Amino acid sequence: MASSMPAPSRSRPRVIAHHAVSLDGATTGFSPDLGTFYGLITTWQEDVTLVGADTILAQEEALVSGTPGPGPDPDGPLLAVVDSRGRVSAWEALRSAGHWRDAIRLEADRPGERVDLRRTLERFAEQGVETVRVDSGGVLTGALLEQGLIDEVSLLVHPVTVGAKSATRWYGASTATLVFTLDQVEAVADGVVWLRYRRSG
Ligand SMILES: NC(=O)c1ccc[n+]([C@@H]2O[C@H](COP(=O)([O-])OP(=O)(O)OC[C@H]3O[C@@H](n4cnc5c(N)ncnc54)[C@H](OP(=O)(O)O)[C@@H]3O)[C@@H](O)[C@H]2O)c1
Repeated sequence: MASSMPAPSRSRPRVIAHHAVSLDGATTGFSPDLGTFYGLITTWQEDVTLVGADTILAQEEALVSGTPGPGPDPDGPLLAVVDSRGRVSAWEALRSAGHWRDAIRLEADRPGERVDLRRTLERFAEQGVETVRVDSGGVLTGALLEQGLIDEVSLLVHPVTVGAKSATRWYGASTATLVFTLDQVEAVADGVVWLRYRRSG
């Protein structure tokens, strides 16, 4: 993998949560600089893009009604959508979008349960996956943070506040107190700052 940071544990891949945020930590309610946001994801060269179902659902209609994608990218990462309730339906459009080599649904081990995120990451590791990038409005990131499963937080901070207009914060509902080390601070676009924090210890 292209990143210089080693995986912290052999039992699971390194997990990066990359979010575009407002000054008050919201992930929605403002217009993020998408060019910069997606331009930066080459930093990690992820093997798997782990996405929350609600992130897919927010773009599903546009995905289905828009111009068909070029088809799977054999060199791209695997798209894995946490979707215990089977809410996502645009699988063919996702596979054809041109960003991923394939798209899969992650289901819970038992009906009525959530996807076991730790076990999912362990299964990825067994398949040789080294790096996972999380794409979420915060809810999925919060669930991963709560279980101590995030190794790097990458925030693209935009010079705007949204206050109560947005209900989503990048840390979701996590109550975990975790300590991070600052790895990088960079002004990457007009007023937009990129912060990278690595889990300490
Ligand atoms: N600014 C940004 O960087 C950014 C990035 C991506 C998306 N977004 C925006 O964010 C919004 C969607 O984000 P969101 O935060 O609401 O949702 P999300 O993170 O995309 O989706 C929530 C996910 O969390 C899973 N989940 C919740 N608790 C869990 C647990 N305890 N164990 C396992 N899985 C759990 C849910 O699984 P189940 O479905 O199985 O319950 C679901 O897949 C959209 O508006 C999108 O446009 C912003």
